[in-house]
Amino acid sequence: MLKILVMGATGNVGREVLRLLLSHNCNVCAAVRNPDTAKDILGSNIECVRFDFTNPDTFANAFVRVNKLFLVRPPALANIRKEIAPALDAAKLAGVKHIVFLSILGAESNPFVPHSQIENYIQKLGIKATFLRCSFFMQNLNTTHREDIKTRGELLLPAGNGKTSFIDIRDIAAVAVRTLIEDRHQGKAYTLTGSEALTYYEVADIFTSVLGKPIRYNPSLLKFIRKMRSSGFAIDFILVMVAIYTTARLGLASKITSDTEQLLDRLPLTIRQYIEDYQQFWLSS
Ligand SMILES: NC(=O)c1ccc[n+]([C@@H]2O[C@H](COP(=O)([O-])OP(=O)(O)OC[C@H]3O[C@@H](n4cnc5c(N)ncnc54)[C@H](OP(=O)(O)O)[C@@H]3O)[C@@H](O)[C@H]2O)c1
Repeated sequence: MLKILVMGATGNVGREVLRLLLSHNCNVCAAVRNPDTAKDILGSNIECVRFDFTNPDTFANAFVRVNKLFLVRPPALANIRKEIAPALDAAKLAGVKHIVFLSILGAESNPFVPHSQIENYIQKLGIKATFLRCSFFMQNLNTTHREDIKTRGELLLPAGNGKTSFIDIRDIAAVAVRTLIEDRHQGKAYTLTGSEALTYYEVADIFTSVLGKPIRYNPSLLKFIRKMRSSGFAIDFILVMVAIYTTARLGLASKITSDTEQLLDRLPLTIRQYIEDYQQFWLSS
């Protein structure tokens, strides 16, 4: 029976991919660093196997009888040759036949992003692959930016007046599951975006309307850096965030494609729908 290994299974996208694969009765296993804590998050009925990109001793057991892999690059791992490639070598050796990789918008034209290096490495290995090049996740607003929005009614990030074609991770996961289950997506790359591109001023207005309390967008770069520092984020992480939001400020995050709609046979979820569905994140104590 086809066996699918899901990486990043305790994270935003992987957890949703796991949930949807289970609802399709797929034979699925979660590759996690700590199976005990993962079971607390995922539920005790989920099959978990210990896997750590930085520990080659965990590779062989994790890939036993695995045919397909949902690959997520942990955000902290940026040295692809040292930290990601060894696990992909082990996957190839174990006979993994297809990798669906959670990539990033524009990876095909930016050789400096780690995702581009991973795409190239998978191709070099000759494993069939599907690249999901995703736009900015809506769910960053209920994770990274949750506290600011909830406690101060402020969306503080330096994206200027640039537009972003936000995508809901529930749509990404639904596409990922399709591409894992159906063979026709092997050898393809999809650019997954929402169907609208909005400025953060517009996003703040939608927050205000849905939550029924004023949410203001503040694009100050200086305040953003100060706030991230005082919240204890490492300077490297803050610089990556600034680079990402600069991309948006320059209009490079606004691309819209029809790939999500075509793959799901419906329109992508809108940011208003997302804020309505997740409103307890910014309202509850
Ligand atoms: N945020 C965006 O807007 C956006 C847009 C496009 C693409 N992306 C890409 O999406 C990816 C992140 O996806 P996500 O948000 O779903 O992930 P996430 O919520 O940040 O979770 C990261 C996952 O990686 C696991 N992990 C961390 N270190 C590991 C290691 N050494 N070995 C094995 N697993 C490890 C974590 O497991 P533990 O439970 O063990 O910590 C967790 O499950 C990144 O590559 C990012 O660049 C993000």
